[in-house]
Amino acid sequence: MLLHEEEILTRVNTLATEIQGVYSTVTELTIVALLNGCLIFAADLLRRLTIPTRLESLSVESYRGATHSSGVVTFKQALPDLRGREVLVVDDILDTGRTLAAVIDQVRQAGAASIRTCVLLKKRRGRAVNVEADFWGFEIDDLFVVGYGLDYAGRLRNLPYIAILQERAD
Ligand code: IMP
Ligand code: MG
Repeated sequence: MLLHEEEILTRVNTLATEIQGVYSTVTELTIVALLNGCLIFAADLLRRLTIPTRLESLSVESYRGATHSSGVVTFKQALPDLRGREVLVVDDILDTGRTLAAVIDQVRQAGAASIRTCVLLKKRRGRAVNVEADFWGFEIDDLFVVGYGLDYAGRLRNLPYIAILQERAD
C-alpha cells in the first residue's frame, strides 16, 4: 500500500482549497478531465469545488496495456470549443509528461484563455518533455502504481487506495 483512502481524500480536500484560491476571481472554471485514469480523482475533486465549474472529459491514451509509456498520445475524439475559457486539465499521474504536453497543446489550439494542470500523483524522476503540474497531490518515486482510477492493463482501477504493482519474480 502506498496511499490509504483517507490520506488521498484529505489531500484532495486541501488541493480543492488551493485550486479555489487561484481561481477565486474567475467567473467560471472548466475542468478538462483525462479519462479513464482520472475518473475517480476528478469525481472527488469536483465535489469539493464550490466555484462555478464546468466539466469536459477527453479520452486519451498513452499506455497500451503495459507499464511503460508508448511515447505516442492518442486522442479518441475532437476537443470541445474552449474559446475564452479558464481551463484546468486534470489527470491521474504525471510521468514522462507526454500526455500533459500533448493535451496542453490541443487545449491551447481550442482557444482557452488560460491553462493550468492538476495531477493526483507526480513521479519524481525527470520528464521526457518539459512540462510540470501547477497542482499535485503527492510526489512519488519511479514506481508503477494502481488503484483509485490508475490501471494496469485496464485493471485494478477500482481499488479505493493506491498500491505499488509488484512484478512477479518467476
Ligand atoms: P506520461 O504521458 O508519461 O506523463 O504518462 C501519463 C499517463 O500514463 C497517465 O495518464 C497514466 O494513464 C499513465 N501512467 C503513468 N504512470 C503510471 C502508473 O504508475 N500507473 C498507472 N498508469 C500510469
Ligand atoms: Mg492509464
